[in-house]
Amino acid sequence: MVSRVIPVDVFDLVIFGATGDLARRKILPGLYRRYLAGQMPGESRIIGAARSDMSDKAFREQVRVAIAEFVPKARQDAEAIEKFLGRISYVPIDATGTGGWTALKKMMRDNVVRAFYFSVAPSLFGDIAERLHDHGIADAWSRIVVEKPFGRDLASARALNEVLARHFTETQIYRIDHYLGKETVQNLMAVRFANILFEPLWKSEYIDHVQITVAETVGVNGRGAYYDKSGAMRDMVQNHMMQLLCLIAMEPPYHFDPDAVRDEKLKVIRALDPVAPEDIVRGQYLPGQGEGGYLEHSENPASRTESYIALKVQVSNWRWKGTPFYLRTGKRLRARASEIAITFREPPHSIFDDAKGWRENVLVIRLQPNEGMNLMVMIKEPGPGGMRLMQVPLDMAFADALGADAEDVPDAYERLIMDVIRGNQTLFMRGDEVEAAWAWTDPIIAAWEAQGNRPQSYDAGSSGPEDALMLMHRDGRRWREIRE
Ligand code: BG6
Repeated sequence: MVSRVIPVDVFDLVIFGATGDLARRKILPGLYRRYLAGQMPGESRIIGAARSDMSDKAFREQVRVAIAEFVPKARQDAEAIEKFLGRISYVPIDATGTGGWTALKKMMRDNVVRAFYFSVAPSLFGDIAERLHDHGIADAWSRIVVEKPFGRDLASARALNEVLARHFTETQIYRIDHYLGKETVQNLMAVRFANILFEPLWKSEYIDHVQITVAETVGVNGRGAYYDKSGAMRDMVQNHMMQLLCLIAMEPPYHFDPDAVRDEKLKVIRALDPVAPEDIVRGQYLPGQGEGGYLEHSENPASRTESYIALKVQVSNWRWKGTPFYLRTGKRLRARASEIAITFREPPHSIFDDAKGWRENVLVIRLQPNEGMNLMVMIKEPGPGGMRLMQVPLDMAFADALGADAEDVPDAYERLIMDVIRGNQTLFMRGDEVEAAWAWTDPIIAAWEAQGNRPQSYDAGSSGPEDALMLMHRDGRRWREIRE
């Protein structure tokens, strides 16, 4: 199988916050990989912009180090790296002042795609948007890319949308949720809408419940200051987990087209019921396994921020009434494992006597690691002695199915940046979608803040707080084990 690389137009990509962590880890190494794949055509260029005063040469050296650190050795080709660095320049810029903007304007070329990546604190979005506009750097075809967090509640998200809307139209604004750039997340749509097999059963009549798990082994580490103001609900549920839920729950869009897809996702978010406090479990990890606990990383030793959350969510529409979605995510858990498990209901009538051998069909979509799909089905246990049933997996690892192509799968950021250049917004969040997600999130957070409860402690390396088990036990269900 030969992977297809779709050509993109010639572009100038300006990265604000080019010396920051995201640029170093993801954006710049990702662009190098796209360069290798032939997706930086002609004279496409990257312009780093940040506060530090630095020459092109010094910035290129930073990029070289980032490539050495974050690109697999097998892809590090000395000659290609030199050529790639030759496409990069740097401009010191004062995001809130005047310095650097005239220089940046002089660097921009006509008749190429202009993209501006705001890899900076959201408090700077407005200043940068305004200066791009006032200096005539952004034209009607320019695009801007903004990172999460997009607000910390509905009011702040609205304010950000308004600030950006002063200078850019919605079709120029690309709000990144990097989960949508993951191949396996996009596969959710392929599995659902490119196969006839699942869709007829994809409703509460046949589906008992859905579990969405995003478990991490890492802690908050150096991000304590940001994380403490955020917590798992704002950091993961309002955005990444919400997107996963939408892709599982949405109606088939009429076409794989930006607004058609986003309209359907928006309907799911609007159909979410408020979540009762008893349907939420929050946790905070304890010290262990050679690392400090959550509180040691937080600037506030009495912090009530959750590093784990589990919730039972109901999508109130015809398709899903009566099928709960259980969501959980946390840091410092037993394994890094993200998956979606769809548990089907019992057949309406059993013709076999072996009732105790029967298990539900479960479709598991493994998002990371070991990306793949697993469908648990019943078969006859081999041998004489009557009809005894057993459950076996139909297991497919994408790496096996795709062979060598699986090694060259682009990282989420690579894919999304190329979509920006192509002008395709399908995998980006629309302003109303982000606002709807906050409108659902805000009262949940307000309710636990009003109660003033502390999150429950959980051991590092565990599956999370004990009460999270109860959340499912009391419904006669259980979480799947967290394992790689
Ligand atoms: C980020 C969160 O958006 O996603 C992090 O801020 C989290 O806290 C990360 O660790 C998880 O992303 P991934 O791609 O490693 O699953």
